[in-house]
Amino acid sequence: MIEINNISKQYRRGTAVFTALKNITIKIDEGEFCSVIGSSGAGKSTLLHIIGGLIHPDSGTLFYNGDDLYKQSSRNIDKYRKECLGFMFQQFHLMPYLTVNENIKLACYNRKQIDNIDYFLEKCSLSEMKNKYPSELSVGEKQRTAFIRAIISGPELLLADEPTGNLDPVNSKILMSLLKEFNNKNGTVVLVSHDTGMSDYANRRIILEKGMIIPS
Ligand SMILES: Nc1ncnc2c1ncn2[C@@H]1O[C@H](COP(=O)(O)OP(=O)(O)OP(=O)(O)O)[C@@H](O)[C@H]1O
Ligand SMILES: [Mg+2]
Repeated sequence: MIEINNISKQYRRGTAVFTALKNITIKIDEGEFCSVIGSSGAGKSTLLHIIGGLIHPDSGTLFYNGDDLYKQSSRNIDKYRKECLGFMFQQFHLMPYLTVNENIKLACYNRKQIDNIDYFLEKCSLSEMKNKYPSELSVGEKQRTAFIRAIISGPELLLADEPTGNLDPVNSKILMSLLKEFNNKNGTVVLVSHDTGMSDYANRRIILEKGMIIPS
């Protein structure tokens, strides 16, 4: 499904150059639950954004279902993001002036998906928060709202950036079971986290350190 070959990414600011990812090669099959574990600054978000079509790598290739993603037009990359992906961002990126329901609705493409919102709100214990704004939510509630927004359109691939980063153990467990359930229904999951415990839910663990994969 995803074939990452020899990808590198450097950030430049003025004359300073920082290597965030160096020669990353990973193959992820459809239906996998893959965790990428690494400490802060290891390059986890950079990697996830590259898989998500949000940051162009400096070198290397990423094939998605046989297509070389970064050789596609920006229109096709947009299409990939829209049709194939759900993204849970490290900082949630919920729209502050929209309610929980409206935030999720933004990610829907048809009536059927909109009609499914209540089902997922119920499942995620958020029914009572439906008409609240993000500023009125706890972190766990924001995180679960971001989860529903990411999966409401039925993506084949879910990219989750530290989905439990700010949660207590009970809320972490709830969120991880939701991710696992998505995976059990044939969704592919790539999760990045600094928390090694998160890889218990995954069928594969990749360790990232200083922008490089550590052989296991
Ligand atoms: N836009 C940027 N400009 C310059 N350096 C950046 C930029 N984005 C990230 N970096 C640097 O690249 C490295 C990797 O960043 P990244 O956000 O991918 O790490 P991370 O593993 O997700 O960390 P965290 O666990 O703290 O979220 C870090 O050292 C960071 O300072
Ligand atoms: Mg990060």
